[in-house]
Amino acid sequence: MSAEQAAALIKPGMTVAMSGFTGAGYPKAVPQALASLMEAEHGAGNEFQIKVLTGASTAPELDGVLAKVGGMQLRLPYMSDPSLRKRINDGDLDYMDIHLSHVAQHAWFGFYGDVDVAVIEVVGVLEDGRLIPSSSVGNNKTWLEMADKVIIEVNAQQSPGLEGMHDIYYGTALPPHRKPIPLLAPEDRIGVPYLHVDPDKIIAVVETDAPDRLSAFAAPDAASRQIAGHLLDFFAHEIDHGRLTGTLLPLQSGVGNVANAVLAGLADGGYRGLRAFTEVIQDGMLELIKNGTLAFASATSFSLSEAGIAEFNANVDFYRERIVLRPQEISNHPELVRRLGCIAMNGMIEADIYGNVNSTHVAGSHMMNGIGGSGDFARNGFLSVFMSPSTAKGGRISGIVPMASHVDHTEHDTMVIVTEQGLADLRGLAPKQRARLIMERCAHPDFRPMLEDYFERASRESYGKHTPHLMGEALSWHQRYIDTGDMRP
Ligand code: COA
Repeated sequence: MSAEQAAALIKPGMTVAMSGFTGAGYPKAVPQALASLMEAEHGAGNEFQIKVLTGASTAPELDGVLAKVGGMQLRLPYMSDPSLRKRINDGDLDYMDIHLSHVAQHAWFGFYGDVDVAVIEVVGVLEDGRLIPSSSVGNNKTWLEMADKVIIEVNAQQSPGLEGMHDIYYGTALPPHRKPIPLLAPEDRIGVPYLHVDPDKIIAVVETDAPDRLSAFAAPDAASRQIAGHLLDFFAHEIDHGRLTGTLLPLQSGVGNVANAVLAGLADGGYRGLRAFTEVIQDGMLELIKNGTLAFASATSFSLSEAGIAEFNANVDFYRERIVLRPQEISNHPELVRRLGCIAMNGMIEADIYGNVNSTHVAGSHMMNGIGGSGDFARNGFLSVFMSPSTAKGGRISGIVPMASHVDHTEHDTMVIVTEQGLADLRGLAPKQRARLIMERCAHPDFRPMLEDYFERASRESYGKHTPHLMGEALSWHQRYIDTGDMRP
């Protein structure tokens, strides 16, 4: 049926679970038709809002249009759409920021209530009803199983060559019946290449012909290249000391400019035969696979530019041998991240001098994107690395602060902090040792004296001397930014 007819089956107040992860594999037509319906209803003075569950961020055709018409009362988990971010920060809707590995199990535990409708993009439908998954898997297995009704979008633009690339694991169970997940290496296949759905639940099949959102990466800037350089020196140091080998350990890499620069640096560093156990395959990873730096990558989604999609489609048979896409509850599973010993590399908004990391909130209250999978990997990885330029907004904000304005990753989970200034290896250090190292290695020279002054006074005057703080002053840097737009006095 048409997208308009399918959208008309979604009613106000429903919980609607949609496919989509980092701008890939999201439904392209039904959310837009739904937004038009909502706008018409709102124009007629009627409320029309739904609760939206996804895999992670989607695109303007889903989050953007629904946010613009005020069509969401709740949204979870990760997002990155500017219109949705504005709604969230204006306080117009409830946003739940959840570890990406937790979403499916929390849904099964009943924490989010019933799922009325699932809207899922696929590449195709087999004669027996099995579904060929699209360019992301995300939470689709869970949504198809939990939803009362299912709307399928079949997108002709997705490569038919995706068939066979997925590994959908149907062995998960709820406590106390859980069994170990039998995955021992990133390249292991433990499931089937298709998604299952009860055909009786299908209320609409909509044909679409539209590309995923195309996110082109800028060439790495100077700060990103410096961060990558520090991290590569660190890997070499770890190899020298026998804690890593020349093939490292499975890599997890966040998306973004810095992460892309680190990936590029690995190729230049002469590494070969590496593996990735990560969330997202971006252009940089395709290049690494092509030139042999990366032997295999496990993820839950692609996030490719237009050029990346063209490269992938032209060589899909080559990539199908070297990439597997899994449900995000498996790609990010703490049990597997711990077993495989992942090297987790993620961006951050800020770190404090003791190593607490804020990935999500500017000035403690303004949501940027969400925690994504950073916590799944940082908490459980062999190494957890957080990286960022040492300043933001033209040097007005320090990425290293006395006290983080919001904490996503605690001092207990942060092992390495990197800025363009340098790298602080926090392993085996107590709080005051960490503080001195982070200030010395990572802080920008414009802010370092201010930080050192704070730390020295706190070390003398603090109530407790284990993690010295002057509570009244600790967050004043953030208040100064809120008041003046500049952390500097
Ligand atoms: N204060 C205010 N703004 C800050 C800031 C700070 N301390 N640090 C960064 N920002 C702003 C930047 O100015 C930029 O804003 P703009 O978009 O208006 O230019 C934005 O945050 C992005 O920062 P950037 O330096 O370009 O880095 P990035 O693209 O790597 O993003 C995060 C950094 C933290 C926002 C990003 O890594 C993220 O969302 N992380 C959480 C999820 C995650 O880790 N996912 C990976 C596992 S899946």
